[in-house]
Amino acid sequence: MNLTIIGTGYVGLVSGTCFAEMGNNVTCIDIDQKKIDGLKNGIIPIYEPGLEAMVKRNVAGKTLHFSTSLQSHLDNCDIAFIAVGTPMGEDGSADLQYVLQVAKQIGSHMTAPLIVVDKSTVPVGTADKVHETIANELQKRGASMPFTVVSNPEFLKEGDAINDFMKPDRVVIGSDNPEATKKMRSLYAPFFRSSMDRLITMDVRSAEMTKYVANAMLATKISFMNEVANICELVGADVNKVRIGIGSDSRIGYSFIYPGSGYGGSCFPKDVKALKKTAMQYGYQPQLIEAVEDVNDRQKLVVAHKIIAKYGADLNGKVFAVWGLSFKPETDDMREAPSIYIINELVKRGAIIKAYDPKAIEEAKHFYLKDTPNVTYYSSKYEAISEANAMILLTEWKEFRSPDFHEIKKQLLEPVIFDGRNQYNDEILSEMGFEYYQIGKTRY
Ligand code: UDX
Repeated sequence: MNLTIIGTGYVGLVSGTCFAEMGNNVTCIDIDQKKIDGLKNGIIPIYEPGLEAMVKRNVAGKTLHFSTSLQSHLDNCDIAFIAVGTPMGEDGSADLQYVLQVAKQIGSHMTAPLIVVDKSTVPVGTADKVHETIANELQKRGASMPFTVVSNPEFLKEGDAINDFMKPDRVVIGSDNPEATKKMRSLYAPFFRSSMDRLITMDVRSAEMTKYVANAMLATKISFMNEVANICELVGADVNKVRIGIGSDSRIGYSFIYPGSGYGGSCFPKDVKALKKTAMQYGYQPQLIEAVEDVNDRQKLVVAHKIIAKYGADLNGKVFAVWGLSFKPETDDMREAPSIYIINELVKRGAIIKAYDPKAIEEAKHFYLKDTPNVTYYSSKYEAISEANAMILLTEWKEFRSPDFHEIKKQLLEPVIFDGRNQYNDEILSEMGFEYYQIGKTRY
């Protein structure tokens, strides 16, 4: 099929590249000329394992194209995907200006019948707004091409996005038009080799809601476990054991019950807030969803509070090595990363930070911690801990999983580790003489 993907952000670029990999003829559109020029030459604006090779392969094979002109790529297009950003507006709701701008352009340029797909995460009712916007534009120019708007939310995880797209747990297609449903099903059919059970079709509003509910449910599991972790510390239990104990119940399951420094990233914080906002717009006070958010805000500072409990509120003269800045491993994404909150809190109290991350240093230095003083960046994890009072682990990158603890002990001024991701065995560390703080387990 001929596909046009509008927006070469994370979702648009991964989706377009994977559709091309499956043999479709794909053009990815973006208004950012520099980005498009770079992509044509295999320069990928984000770090995502496997993506660069796949982009290059498909550009060379002429199945993947990049352009800044939407107008010239609507003529022979079967399906146009809107994959532009929906940033969080000031009031917490999703800002639809970019989505509707694209809808407007589609309406003013389309020359043949078209299926328009909302791939961006958009609140319930957006497909109707997109439909109305396109219809208005068509009417303005006296055109009457048939078109339909489909909701096809994205469930990609950063760091594993290619795998998620090529072998999806499920694909949700929300459409009120049987012809469009059929076409969308045939586009996705090759991604489901054994069974089509997980190619799920439903009405547009339910599909729009599904995306938010999936993310809010996962965020709820995490906040629930973070709250449990805090209670475990108070009562003298070990949340790592409790987690295994409850996960063994298949109704609960082992995934997404890892306590830590709170969830971050581009999806959970934004989508939980947007779902809350939607509920409130319809006059419903979503108490549980509000609590999920509050617990997460509080959790982001738990590690900082442990540090303050040990060293006091005045951290002048104290040096802390931070291992991990991105919101999770295998990405350079710093959006809503707990590291931002923790580092700012420590610096505010006079601390000096020596930071290391395998991929996110540039993002931190130039954007997310740009205005935070007293942070120095290092190119190796051991360099960063040299002469620090303690090491703070904030992202569970693989290279932090089993470091050389003798080296850590040698480099640190005192053998103290604050672990915001519960990565290490506390018995081994205590035997080695470390003072090891983790989430959800009391230190005696
Ligand atoms: C998430 C969803 O998983 C994905 O389906 C959706 O499309 C976008 O949002 P992503 O934000 O890339 O993906 O990351 P994910 O791996 O889901 O982790 C989200 C956050 O939860 C991270 O901050 C992570 O550290 C945290 N987390 C995850 C926990 O704190 N505990 C867990 O048990 C799991």
